Amino acid sequence: MKKSSIILFIIFVLIFSACIENQFSNASVNLASGYQLYERNCSNCHQKDGSGFARLYPPLLNSDYILNNPNMVDSIIKHGQKGSIKVNGVEYNLAMPAYTKLSQHEVNQIAYYVLIKFNKLDSLLMEK
Ligand code: HEC
Repeated sequence: MKKSSIILFIIFVLIFSACIENQFSNASVNLASGYQLYERNCSNCHQKDGSGFARLYPPLLNSDYILNNPNMVDSIIKHGQKGSIKVNGVEYNLAMPAYTKLSQHEVNQIAYYVLIKFNKLDSLLMEK
């Protein structure tokens, strides 16, 4: 009796950890869905290529702001961003809305897309 519940427990742990690993690797490599989510939610302002728009919307492409705060991309998406900030030497001061309806998974997809495609921060993500 005891032995079989230990075996069941081990099987459970194995299945569970396989699921976690699977979810994580999907999240980190699924740039296609990151692209779609980015286009739908962000490209209006930041443009499809991430270059930003005039002095209104800052660039996400090769942004020194992102390079200095790579972990903030996630929270900027979830909570928005306002107040004066400097990106690549230019000052921006408009409010970006919070994306409260996106799931954490969707936020991750977009953040990975922005970090990898626009800022070549693959190595940073691999270390995680
Ligand atoms: C309505 C226009 C608008 C939309 C849509 C928008 N943003 Fe922004 N975003 C801004 C503005 C304006 C700022 C600068 C805010 C400030 O001045 O503090 C900004 C700043 C940022 C920054 C930090 C500055 C930089 O350029 O590195 C990041 C990262 C960012 N946005 C990512 C996103 C992502 C990802 C999405 C989609 C989920 C998105 N934004 C959607 C307007 C927008």
